[in-house]
Amino acid sequence: MEQFLTLNDLPSLSEAIYEAIELKRNPFAFKSLGNRKNLGMLFFNPSLRTRLSSQKAAQLLGLKTMVMNFSNEAWALEFEDGIQMSGLRSEHIKEAASVVSQYCDMVAIRAFASLNSKENDEKEIVLKSFKKYASIPVINMESATSHPLQALADAITIKENNKVKRPKIVLTWAPHPKALPHAVGNSFVRMANKIDCDFIIAQPKGYELNPLIVGDNTIVYNQEQALEGADFVYAKNWCSYSDYGKILKTDDTWMITAKKMKLTNNAKFMHCLPIRRNIVASDEVLDSNNSLIIEQANNRTYSAQLVLKKILENG
Ligand code: CP
Repeated sequence: MEQFLTLNDLPSLSEAIYEAIELKRNPFAFKSLGNRKNLGMLFFNPSLRTRLSSQKAAQLLGLKTMVMNFSNEAWALEFEDGIQMSGLRSEHIKEAASVVSQYCDMVAIRAFASLNSKENDEKEIVLKSFKKYASIPVINMESATSHPLQALADAITIKENNKVKRPKIVLTWAPHPKALPHAVGNSFVRMANKIDCDFIIAQPKGYELNPLIVGDNTIVYNQEQALEGADFVYAKNWCSYSDYGKILKTDDTWMITAKKMKLTNNAKFMHCLPIRRNIVASDEVLDSNNSLIIEQANNRTYSAQLVLKKILENG
């Protein structure tokens, strides 16, 4: 595998899930694969899980890591070509990506959506500029529109916990006080469409994700109706896509509660974390035996290990 910008870079999701579960069983099986190589990790936004799980994954493969918080430690980057750089941005991506490529054997980038401009966010300027100017493999640690490492970890978690032939999986919008990007929701939709399941999206009107990603998936505007018979409930907030970046509704009626979980087929509860307790889901749900949130975070290690392994194997 030459890069990991989206789930589509995986040759096969089902094989990736299988291989990641094998890595989880025997995490040191490839402990020398990354010897004498290093992974640069550039963060334009905060992280707990992505940063630590990716570093752990690298260590399990013998890779060294170099981590930089680009937002406050590096020179502010200019991404526009042909511009006279008389403003606040001190370094052009052309030099920055070329320089990083000399120090690192692969580079992972986290750069969220601005939520100010749909057009700019959809251009994936940071991730794609590194892709354009770096001469090493680029890995997406959550970009403006996708979070494929999370979606792969979610797929692993569903595979490990599924008890029925064809599970019903509900991705439900949930409230949040801040406007959040669409990346996790987008990648979850893409992942769910690649596995054998009955998948529906539950959301209030106005919160439709990008129609190019939703495609012909079923959207249900009544959350309780959507939850009936569900085997997995994945809660996530995202802001409006059509009224880009806006919060249209903040009331708590869409919070996942124990009462709502009773409508399901004893469903497992999922969320990518971090989660606002008693806003997105109640304590009772998060602390229940059916909550997979900590296991999902654990599987972030094997999701990242699988991706790094595939890139290392490519040479
Ligand atoms: N789920 C996730 O990506 O967590 P972090 O933002 O903490 O990395």
